[in-house]
Amino acid sequence: MKRACLNSGMNSGMQPEPVIDVLSLTKRFATTLAVDQVTFSCEQGEILGLLGPNGAGKTTTLRMLATALRPTSGTARISGFDITTQPEEVRRQVGVLPSEPGLYGRLTPREILRYFGQLYDMTPGAIESRTRELLSLLGLDEHADQRTETFSRGMRQKVSIARTLIHDPPVIFLDEPTAGLDVMSARAIHDFIVQCKAAGKSIILSTHMMAEAEKLCDRIAIINHGRIVAIGTMQELRNAAAGPASRDQGSDQVSLEEVFVKLAGKDDFRVDPHAAMRHHRE
Ligand SMILES: Nc1ncnc2c1ncn2[C@@H]1O[C@H](COP(=O)(O)OP(=O)(O)OP(=O)(O)O)[C@@H](O)[C@H]1O
Ligand SMILES: [Mg+2]
Repeated sequence: MKRACLNSGMNSGMQPEPVIDVLSLTKRFATTLAVDQVTFSCEQGEILGLLGPNGAGKTTTLRMLATALRPTSGTARISGFDITTQPEEVRRQVGVLPSEPGLYGRLTPREILRYFGQLYDMTPGAIESRTRELLSLLGLDEHADQRTETFSRGMRQKVSIARTLIHDPPVIFLDEPTAGLDVMSARAIHDFIVQCKAAGKSIILSTHMMAEAEKLCDRIAIINHGRIVAIGTMQELRNAAAGPASRDQGSDQVSLEEVFVKLAGKDDFRVDPHAAMRHHRE
């Protein structure tokens, strides 16, 4: 698969290493090949979307990149650190919003952020100023000292995002950040993500929402059965879905949903060959 390269415009002959560089990342759970030789990169200031049906391997990919799960094979480098041999360094580089973040309901946003800031060895002064910045950016200033158990889902998600970013990491993983949120809450989180991009963060965003992927992502990787079946800008994906004959013939009108169904559907009959062999023998 062709790898889109955003560095091609650089005048230096030497291309810097991408902030996130994933190489043949693979995870097997017993008979399930959850992630199958996934390879991609993400540059500074880029938002890369992971789009795929339930069970495609998005969360497993993000958990491996966040060093919460050991790959079966393959690896990735984040800000130059290897996820398998330098997990401690990697954890300092990344902020991870899991798909189901838990919050201590009895604590306030300020207390939660202080606790996580301390885990990252931040000074009290740094925690305080970063807390002020994040709560303001996320519109939570007025609720800084209320217990989160009284918060709406959207407010809790904003606190989870603030907690994820307390240490101001250069790399951010967001696993379905707006799932179950109303339009206004989702919009506020979208705006925040755009500000993170503008600040030069490298962001991987897993989502089921086509509109979200289209609005936020510079490039989108479509994953199915653990494999990247297509990766590129919206226009590159449209062209790939349209096929060579239709290129430059209005394929820019095709929606991401149509592109997704076409490209993800291609791989529908792919099975884990080892599992298939086992079933065959049984
Ligand atoms: N801890 C685990 N043990 C066994 N199998 C797992 C485990 N975690 C994930 N899987 C399997 O790996 C595959 C990929 O799951 P994953 O959660 O990564 O998918 P996903 O793309 O995030 O799906 P969704 O869109 O539903 O969140 C699935 O078949 C899932 O059942
Ligand atoms: Mg998931």
